[in-house]
Amino acid sequence: MSDKATIEIDGEKYDFPLIVGTENEVAIDIKALRSITGGAITIDPGFKNTGSCESAITFLDGEKGILRYRGYAIEELAEKADFLEVAYLLIFGELPTKEQNEKFHADIKAEAVVDEDVKKIIDAFPKSAHPMGVIASLTSALTAFNPSSVNVNSEEDMYRAIVKILGKFPVLVAWTMRKKQGLPLNYGSDSIGYVENILKMMFEKPNHTYEQNPILVNALDKLLILHADHEQNCSTSTVRIVGSSHAGLFASLSAGISALWGPLHGGANQAVLEMLEGIKQDGGDTKKYMAKAKDKDDPFRLMGFGHRVYKNFDPRAKIIKKAADEVLGDLGVTDPVLDIAKGLAEEALSDDYFVQRKLYPNVDFYSGIIYRAMGIPVEMFTVMFALGRLPGWIAQWREMRLRKEPIGRPRQVYIGETYRPFVNLEDR
Ligand code: CMC
Repeated sequence: MSDKATIEIDGEKYDFPLIVGTENEVAIDIKALRSITGGAITIDPGFKNTGSCESAITFLDGEKGILRYRGYAIEELAEKADFLEVAYLLIFGELPTKEQNEKFHADIKAEAVVDEDVKKIIDAFPKSAHPMGVIASLTSALTAFNPSSVNVNSEEDMYRAIVKILGKFPVLVAWTMRKKQGLPLNYGSDSIGYVENILKMMFEKPNHTYEQNPILVNALDKLLILHADHEQNCSTSTVRIVGSSHAGLFASLSAGISALWGPLHGGANQAVLEMLEGIKQDGGDTKKYMAKAKDKDDPFRLMGFGHRVYKNFDPRAKIIKKAADEVLGDLGVTDPVLDIAKGLAEEALSDDYFVQRKLYPNVDFYSGIIYRAMGIPVEMFTVMFALGRLPGWIAQWREMRLRKEPIGRPRQVYIGETYRPFVNLEDR
């Protein structure tokens, strides 16, 4: 293969080097484009063909349905690792040794408290507030309670900031849900596992000791792992770009949470469940909704279908579909919405419109069914996604700062008015 790409503008040829990744992905390095061409830029709305960085964290091949964190297959990690091991792997690059794992967990536990004044902020939100808005605000508010900025040149400083957010975020998640339900805000326990404690903090009733259900612990652990990173998606790119201005970790994460909220991104898990419920209430006619999804004059989209990168299948959806069957079976729950979901998926997989556009169920298609079986309210689904994605965002933020990436600042092609003289108010 040639080692350069040539662009011709106005009869003039310019050569650009190629960059090849460890999985043989090819990129044209256009860093010098503006300077050598005298101002030409590229344009690529939605960044469908644009790499924003070089990264060693997550590899995905959308054509083959491959997803790997730091080289390890998602299928193996979901089967054999727990969420904190995966978090450590993503952030620091290697699976932790037993000692590193224990220290990591102990350091996170030591940080799993928040200032009592945070409760006042939570109290100020109306019960009707969407949990994603609340958690984005609380994450940002952590900056106020932890004002010292992170010295990114100090591994120790960086580590402290990382364990701090991994400790405090689950508390904020649980409190966001409990506030909505009118339950007292509690801290769980530091003598149980990370995921066990998330469940305890979320579900313990004031008058009843919470008993762990291994099925739920295992299901949540798996869901968090599957959501932990997904390279340069909308929220991760947001975290990196906000962090590139040297905004702090918590502020960058808060921005990522806001980006995740949208229904085309993490908000899809809530949208899927609402869609499936809507179809059920409308008599369960999946064909009617398939037709709506294909009708270009109808804004309806089949939520939980399609992906910017996966054009074969979403490996996460495969694992989650199996997990949904297992969890519902183990819990003895029958959910008619799961049948509607399976019906829709079957129809879509043999429908020309979906086949031609390579639209397959994505990670969000089945996750809400599991969350619901676990007793998590629909409005909390995207917050659970954020909880899983947290290590990925942290890893990407850390990588961006350690690589000393420049501030993110895209260009544009201006299509507005050219110069026109100002017209005084009385003359308009
Ligand atoms: N239902 C019906 N048609 C669809 C859908 C859908 N869910 N998704 C894409 N299409 C059609 C779209 O109308 C377009 O058709 P045409 O070529 O005739 O104009 C074609 O497929 C390509 O779609 P696109 O919007 O250009 O693709 P994209 O890569 O910009 O968008 C997507 C990807 C995920 C935003 C989109 O598929 C979508 O809106 N899906 C539903 C929302 C969803 O489930 N999002 C969760 C994504 S996975 C979790 C995460 O990582 O955030």
